[in-house]
Amino acid sequence: MKVLVIGSGGREHVMAWKAAQSSLVDQVFVAPGNAGMTDVSQLVPIEESDHEGLVAFAIREDIGLTLVGPEQPLLDGIVNRFEKAGLKVFGPTQEAALIEGSKTFAKELMVANGIPAAFSKSFTDYHEAKAYVEEMGAPIVLKADGLAAGKGVVVAMTLDEALGSLHEMMENNQFGAASERVVVEEFLEGEEFSLMALVDGERVYPLVISQDHKRAFNEDKGPNTGGMGAYSPVPQISQEIVDRSVESILRRAAMGMAKDGRSFTGVLYAGLMLTEQGPKVIEFNARFGDPETQVVLPRMTSDFVAAVLDLLDGKEPELTWSKEAIVGVVVASGGYPGSYEKGKAITGLDAVSPEALVFHAGTKLIDESFVTDGGRVLLIAASGQDLKEASRSVYTELEHIKVKDGFYRTDIGHRAISRVSF
Ligand code: AMP
Ligand code: GLY
Repeated sequence: MKVLVIGSGGREHVMAWKAAQSSLVDQVFVAPGNAGMTDVSQLVPIEESDHEGLVAFAIREDIGLTLVGPEQPLLDGIVNRFEKAGLKVFGPTQEAALIEGSKTFAKELMVANGIPAAFSKSFTDYHEAKAYVEEMGAPIVLKADGLAAGKGVVVAMTLDEALGSLHEMMENNQFGAASERVVVEEFLEGEEFSLMALVDGERVYPLVISQDHKRAFNEDKGPNTGGMGAYSPVPQISQEIVDRSVESILRRAAMGMAKDGRSFTGVLYAGLMLTEQGPKVIEFNARFGDPETQVVLPRMTSDFVAAVLDLLDGKEPELTWSKEAIVGVVVASGGYPGSYEKGKAITGLDAVSPEALVFHAGTKLIDESFVTDGGRVLLIAASGQDLKEASRSVYTELEHIKVKDGFYRTDIGHRAISRVSF
């Protein structure tokens, strides 16, 4: 069969890479993709916002399964459109994607279904929000209600910082319509991890967990980004905690969505904090995480496409995992997550060893050479017997790669590697 992946980042590259390994798959297309993905797929020059064009392509090419990467097309109803055309597609409908599209909706779902989460309140009036923040004090967390490309969250350690950010969001419309409503949330302390599952209605099949690194610089300093690297497994989080999170968080969310008439099909992602009171939700996403997927899918030893098709057919998907550890490091453009220049030279990709994985996020080809074309440029991943070995190997590979004016964190995996002895 033919598979279509929608999106253009590192997450979509790993989805295409894993789909291409399936014994059921002859050809993988990615729309619009990026020039670095042609090692495993054929690019289709249709934007992810062009739902009609994508449906027409899927019909014309007899695509057997479409996988949607990013949140925006999901929130715009691309799955509804594909289903209406009778096409097989994996992702939530517009109604179900609201679990990511509105933090207020997600909070209501959690309260209604007894899902442990940070205490929070949602505001549309600046003065009421300000009074509440002053009453609660710092540290405190502010979140733009709508989508803000992973940048709509401020973890304020002082009251001044909180009030300044609140003013930016609500009075200066920092994130446009996304920050007309702001959620003010209790600050959670603990170990963070990402738990994703293949979900169809009330059926929930967890994937192995991973940990993202949201801050731009080493030691978790600097601004929040879309994610600077990830690793899996996460030995600080026990299997008992994972099992508890699946039951008290993912399964309750899936059941709550179904009860609400928004039955969820797709990848349900829970960003969790293991607090002293147990795991609590930081956020839900309606799709694979980026960069978590680049370290989770390579650990999957079973057939990804077969699992998705079985899930959609009401059968139990087979999911098996490698015991190896994987560390993935993002190389970003200088200036990211703020403004940055594009078109900078990338060299050394040929010198990367064949055992390492290179996923392209923001690159394009000019005169047959790769140049930067986004904030997150590449993710390099390597595996090992344990995280220490995987980390050593990924940083050895990174010595070969030069992205002009680029940067990467040199401590991906540090929370596991420094704390756990192997
Ligand atoms: P989000 O975009 O919701 O994932 O938030 C970005 C990052 O901010 C998270 O990955 C956490 O590191 C941090 N964060 C979000 N909410 C909280 C919270 N309630 N307490 C502590 N840290 C948080
Ligand atoms: N890495 C977090 C996300 O995909 O939202």
